[in-house]
Amino acid sequence: MEETKKKIMLSGIQPSGDLHLGNYLGAVKNWGARAEEFDCYYFMADLHTLTVRQDPKLLRRRSLEQLAQYIACGIDPEKNVLFLQSHVHEHAELGWILNCYTMFGELSRMTQFKDKCAKNADNINGGLFTYPSLMAADILLYQTDYVPVGEDQRQHCELTRNIAVRFNNIYGETFKVPEAYVPKAGARVMSLGNPSSKMSKSDPNGCVFLMEKPEDIARKFKRAITDSDTESCVRFDMENKPGVSNLMNIYSAVTGKSFEEIEKEFDGCGYGVFKPAVGDAVIEALRPIREEATRLLNDKEYLRSVYTEGAQKASVIARKTLRKVYKKVGLVEKPF
Ligand code: TRP
Repeated sequence: MEETKKKIMLSGIQPSGDLHLGNYLGAVKNWGARAEEFDCYYFMADLHTLTVRQDPKLLRRRSLEQLAQYIACGIDPEKNVLFLQSHVHEHAELGWILNCYTMFGELSRMTQFKDKCAKNADNINGGLFTYPSLMAADILLYQTDYVPVGEDQRQHCELTRNIAVRFNNIYGETFKVPEAYVPKAGARVMSLGNPSSKMSKSDPNGCVFLMEKPEDIARKFKRAITDSDTESCVRFDMENKPGVSNLMNIYSAVTGKSFEEIEKEFDGCGYGVFKPAVGDAVIEALRPIREEATRLLNDKEYLRSVYTEGAQKASVIARKTLRKVYKKVGLVEKPF
């Protein structure tokens, strides 16, 4: 492959749950379209999932399902590097090194760590604590320029930058200092049951999964919370009408219509008309993805060829960075 001057983009999602509409509209949907402009690396952050106890069979299945869904969402494996984090052992190795350049105080301040401690009080393990150093390794191994992530990962990206700068200051230019690439507020999908919190797999009633059956999606939208203001009209107003605004956001994202067009379309209609219409639009948008992902999942050989090639491509870059790091910190060069 010849040298390219494209900027590098990298992101990952933990295969600890099924991909949902929030992952899709806020992230994965846009990833596929960026391949012309950037060199893109997308991976299943399977090592990260081990910080919380997983069912081994389910983890294995979800990792492959996530890969199939990435592809079905338009991430072309010919144009993007798709891989499983655990297949590129440099992640774990650089993760260890970076642990030694990340401060206890910094890790203690991570809000995700504090949240997860509260949720998993019986399993506050070392991996949960040092998770951000592994994430920094994921990013820094590829000399990444941009990291597309949700708002909740901004703090981890900031820490990654601090680690990179710290390391570079000690040993000279080694890592590219990456930037978080956070989508505009519009792409943020909130829970259907509680529009003040982000759509999340931990709240399944407010969450629509990519592979969910149409009738279940329809039911969830019919039951979506709307606002108890006096006017029951479809109008975008995040502050006073967060429920309706969230549904408008979703409808706009899947149909490409502007808020103005949507307000006009549903002028005079109550929520009873609007909610099922959003449900139908989502069902139609997800149908081809579900069908394609199902087809791909039945083609295990193909999936295997994708993640094999992805890991091979990723390793070439990762190895280069890790070698540089080992040398800089003073490890004796491996003779084979
Ligand atoms: N921590 C991210 C999350 O929970 C997942 C992740 C792991 C990631 N490594 C990454 C995202 C590297 C971007 C880049 O959502």
